[in-house]
Amino acid sequence: MTTTTESYRVKDLGLAEAGRLRIDWAEARMPVLMALRERHSEEQPLKGQRIAGCLHVTKETAVLIRTLVAAGAEVAWSGCNPLSTQDDVAAAMAAEGIPMYAWHGMNVEEFYWAIDKTLEQKPTLTLDDGADLIFRVHDRFTGLIDGILGGTEETTTGVHRLRAMAADGALKYPVLAINDAETKWDFDNVYGTGQSSLDGILRATSVLLAGKNFVVAGHGHCGRGCALRARGAGANVYVTEVKNTAALKASLEGYSVLPMDEAAAIGDIFITATGMKDVLRKRHFEAMKDGAIVCNTGHYDVELNLPELDELAVSSRQIRENCREVTLQDGRRIYVLAEGRLVNLAAAEGHPSEVMDMSFANQIQGMVFLARKGAGLGNEVHMLPEELDQEIAGIKLAALGIKIDELTPEQAAYATAYAEGT
Ligand code: ADE
Repeated sequence: MTTTTESYRVKDLGLAEAGRLRIDWAEARMPVLMALRERHSEEQPLKGQRIAGCLHVTKETAVLIRTLVAAGAEVAWSGCNPLSTQDDVAAAMAAEGIPMYAWHGMNVEEFYWAIDKTLEQKPTLTLDDGADLIFRVHDRFTGLIDGILGGTEETTTGVHRLRAMAADGALKYPVLAINDAETKWDFDNVYGTGQSSLDGILRATSVLLAGKNFVVAGHGHCGRGCALRARGAGANVYVTEVKNTAALKASLEGYSVLPMDEAAAIGDIFITATGMKDVLRKRHFEAMKDGAIVCNTGHYDVELNLPELDELAVSSRQIRENCREVTLQDGRRIYVLAEGRLVNLAAAEGHPSEVMDMSFANQIQGMVFLARKGAGLGNEVHMLPEELDQEIAGIKLAALGIKIDELTPEQAAYATAYAEGT
């Protein structure tokens, strides 16, 4: 049952107290966001801004939303994936007065309905994870474009999509690539994805990882994180790639690199982290061992071609939560986790609060940057200024109680002394 009024739609408002507890847990692990909240509560840099957000509704996102509100913004929100919403968190946000349109298990029509609801407030800023909101504005709500100062994009896939739009001359307002900040991709994509994806696999299956053949498709930052953590758990890690340099890195990191056509017959567990469609398709499913587990941690559910798997099936049953057993004609069974949607968010809770702390600090600072400077930026995909990265990392280090060295004046001069050589 969804609880609906004009100003929000969530699964059940009665879950709000459970959601508040979860958010409290996250707040205690997000010191950078809390420091920014304190600073921005006084300065109100987002006063007068209306933000439409389309990003996974999790306990960490709730901390982000509260911080945007504390900085003076009016915020309306939808989830960016039909299976990632934490219903108790959505309820807590709605109970706090946020126009929240998100519930776990929404269908595609409801997904776009929810985005459209957040656009009713005529946003001045957009905040995306996957670029569905920005794309919707450009496709169906072009009348809003003149009133929008800019947008932010959280994820690799969304940044690719927006760069393609910009190259085509189709992007009509400036966007900040939050993903490309060092304090985002070098932490969230690697350690966040690595841990949360394994968490999703374990919650959905409870299998032993030690000794398993664990195939990671893609050795970008997210794939690297999965490979790192699977190796740490004692699995034999195999990597597939289409890019020479990434394949070489995987090899030098000690993984076996091979084509998917060969890996298909070897793997016990497969995870895709490529951003590409059909990474696992008919001929791979046909070659898999009985009991193979397949899942995806990329943004969209296109990496596993499940319609092709279902064509090979004689039967299918939901054997555990987020785990569907598909039986093929010869009796082999393949287990599909979370229907090929982001396994870390659909079957677990997404990245831990400690890494989302830095990712979302970039979102906050990105919003403040756009509120101040957005009108002067070109309609392209921009990087956040490097100083913001260093500032965010500095606040995180201080919160962790880690001290670092400072250059002496002589060393600082040496850093730019190009005439000094041998
Ligand atoms: N993406 C990955 N993990 C997430 C989380 N915990 N919250 C929001 N977005 C995420």
